[in-house]
Amino acid sequence: MSTTAHPTSADLFEVTRTETPVPDAEREAALAAPKFGTVFTDHMARISWSQETGWSNRRVEKYGPLLLDPAAAVLHYGQEIFEGLKAYKHPDGSVWTFRPQANAARFAKSAHRLALPQLSESDFLGAIQALVSTDVAWVPGGEETSLYLRPFMYASETFLGVRPSLEAEFLVIASPVGPYFAGGVRPVSIWVAEDYHRAGAGGTGDAKCGGNYAASLLPQQEAYDKGFEQVCFLDASTNTYLEELGGMNVCVVYADGIVATPPISGSILEGVTRSSVLRLLTDAGNAVEERPITLAELKTGLADGSISEVFACGTAAVMTPIGRLAGVGFDLTVGDGTAGPVTTRIRAELTDIQYGRAADRHGWLHRLA
Ligand code: COI
Repeated sequence: MSTTAHPTSADLFEVTRTETPVPDAEREAALAAPKFGTVFTDHMARISWSQETGWSNRRVEKYGPLLLDPAAAVLHYGQEIFEGLKAYKHPDGSVWTFRPQANAARFAKSAHRLALPQLSESDFLGAIQALVSTDVAWVPGGEETSLYLRPFMYASETFLGVRPSLEAEFLVIASPVGPYFAGGVRPVSIWVAEDYHRAGAGGTGDAKCGGNYAASLLPQQEAYDKGFEQVCFLDASTNTYLEELGGMNVCVVYADGIVATPPISGSILEGVTRSSVLRLLTDAGNAVEERPITLAELKTGLADGSISEVFACGTAAVMTPIGRLAGVGFDLTVGDGTAGPVTTRIRAELTDIQYGRAADRHGWLHRLA
């Protein structure tokens, strides 16, 4: 049997290590109690694109500010996309990520919608692998911690005309993280926005682009100001059906065990965590319905007890129970306001797979280091 190591797409990245890495003690302190998205590793992976030369210059270099011309297209027209995935440390010290091929496919779809160049799955995975193997000391090992990976691409051409950029940059940065919501894994409160929408038919709602999140910030801020932690959007055409939260999908659990979630309609994001959770629910014998859910149905179900749990799901949020749901003229507690049994059980199953504590029966894990 041959013992030759096969080259991977990560080998195409030229690694230049920083001469000034964060000192070990400082890094260890950052890993001990990581807050979401505040500290970054020593390096970043990068590939440059131009229409003339295609993708070139695959490299891992020191993490640091980008040089952008003030006329760079992204600063004016928001031609930008991103992804979110995590690297998990397993009990034996190995490092794995979760369904990265799904993120690569969604990134390609987002790139198409934002008229950015297509990046191959091999380059997407290679960049992640090259960065994580360079910064492997940054993968935290504590409970509910991981290394959050943020691949993104932006239009870098210096040009003010409104047309797709002829130059782009793809990067991956990494940040050690704990739970997305401050205070750890606990039920959060949601404000249902009836006066703002996140996306409409034919828009960019199913692309993971910065513009969708920019549009969610004012309603999100207004929700904070009212004392809520997230905002829930309704559909733009009828203001009737649940769509998604500011940065995550939403699922509703009925007292009889049925779980419903808004369908992939073109205006919501096709969450990787969403589809994984639906699969685990199906495996567990719960009937899963991807169908329109009206706000009226949600309000009635919470009031009469036929809806017992509501949860948010996403890479950053994992599965977060929703304890309170309010909007103009209503303020409802979900169940008894604590995490319900279905949310708790499926969350444990999902994280047990991600952290290597349970068998990866669906082949979802991909080794990085
Ligand atoms: C994610 O779950 O990875 C997200 O992109 C949500 C948010 C942090 C933007």
